[in-house]
Amino acid sequence: MESAQIADDLTNTLLTEGQIKDRLAQMARAIERDYDGQDVLLVGVLKGAVMVMADLARSLDRHVEMDWMAISSYGHGTTSSGVVRILKDLDTDISGRHVLVVEDIIDTGLTLSWLIANLRSRGPASVEICALLRKPDAVRMSVDVRYVGFDIPNEFVVGYGLDYGERYRNLRDVATLAPHVYT
Ligand code: PRP
Repeated sequence: MESAQIADDLTNTLLTEGQIKDRLAQMARAIERDYDGQDVLLVGVLKGAVMVMADLARSLDRHVEMDWMAISSYGHGTTSSGVVRILKDLDTDISGRHVLVVEDIIDTGLTLSWLIANLRSRGPASVEICALLRKPDAVRMSVDVRYVGFDIPNEFVVGYGLDYGERYRNLRDVATLAPHVYT
């Protein structure tokens, strides 16, 4: 697909690559302060978190480990159901570890509240969340998020890891999807 055609699918740019990079750098400084002297395991949630993980991890001026989970919400579409199954579990035993979950977006909060409960049951030293985006108006299950990049309106957004039908993840910016694409 050519870029002019991709541009036709988007209504406006919500966050530019530069704004995301700057905000992730600020969040990285906070994480460095908060975890000073502690080992941190970053847990990325596939697939959306790939870009955030790659840029956040490289912003951190310290050792971190990275691991990944793939989970699937039933009732797929543009909203999640909160019923989750694990497609790929962690390779790491997290008991006694400081776990920082890295997410692209918290929408209803259903996925993360399930995930946090699941991770807590494994006996980690701590579990916290770092999410680039959060939609306060979409929340159905409140989740305690330690690091939030941006609160955004309850619109369908794509790019920087976020997809619609597996497309648009590779856009550098976060943009709103034009209604003609999903109606
Ligand atoms: C997205 C996102 C979160 C979840 C948030 O993942 O990465 O994991 O939805 O939604 P919620 O707060 O309403 O639960 P998705 O299931 O679309 O999978 P993906 O990361 O592979 O795109």
